[in-house]
Amino acid sequence: MLEISGLCVNYAGTEAVVDCRMSVGASSAVALLGPNGAGKTSTLKAISGLVEFKGTIEFDGVSVHKMTPEKIARTGLVHVPEGRRLFGSLSVHENLQIGQTSRNGRTGGYSIDDVYDLLPALRPIAKRAGWALSGGEQQMVAIGRGLVAAPRLLLLDEPSLGLAPIVVKSVFAALKEVSERTPILLVEQNAVAAIELCQRGYVLVDGRVAMQGTSEELGSREALIDSYLGQSSLAEVERRAP
Ligand SMILES: Nc1ncnc2c1ncn2[C@@H]1O[C@H](COP(=O)(O)OP(=O)(O)OP(=O)(O)O)[C@@H](O)[C@H]1O
Ligand SMILES: [Mg+2]
Repeated sequence: MLEISGLCVNYAGTEAVVDCRMSVGASSAVALLGPNGAGKTSTLKAISGLVEFKGTIEFDGVSVHKMTPEKIARTGLVHVPEGRRLFGSLSVHENLQIGQTSRNGRTGGYSIDDVYDLLPALRPIAKRAGWALSGGEQQMVAIGRGLVAAPRLLLLDEPSLGLAPIVVKSVFAALKEVSERTPILLVEQNAVAAIELCQRGYVLVDGRVAMQGTSEELGSREALIDSYLGQSSLAEVERRAP
């Protein structure tokens, strides 16, 4: 479904992503792991057309290279960015309604009611303004807004960032359900949660794929530590993959 090869992203001299090859199958959840600055967000941005890149990115056999971000989104590649970006003056419900406008005629996705069923914490705060939401609530709305756009592939950038463990648990339980219908490419620093959700994954270190494999293979702590080492301290890895 998503095929990436030879991907390079540069920012005025900084090589953020270097010659990466990755793929996401039609019915799978794939994790993209790695330490700060590894190039995870840059990879997602390249897929969504938000940064220039070299190499090939094909979605359903079609190159996204010269497409605008709007056109890429219309094909069903739905990106839930780092930092959530809700409309602060709009309510939870209105933010979800805005998400529906990106459906571009696709049917069979999630209705707003489906989102409330999946993330029940949102129902009682449906009328609350975006600016008044907690971080966890914002994250849930951002995911909900992605879902109502009827994604054919959902790109999620660090959905667990800054959330309390209990909220992470409920967000990941919802994502588990989502992953049964919708392919996901999940960027995460929470390797444990990501590996539980996904069947396969890649570890990026300094812009390069340092390791890839099934979740079982990546779940071996030694292997994860090996792949992070050289660039990050052992303590850093221990903190991330306890
Ligand atoms: N707009 C930009 N201009 C210049 N350099 C950038 C820009 N965006 C990212 N970078 C650099 O590119 C590298 C990769 O950044 P990226 O945001 O892709 O990493 P990441 O893996 O998502 O990290 P994190 O886990 O901290 O979100 C970093 O060295 C970063 O400083
Ligand atoms: Mg990032």
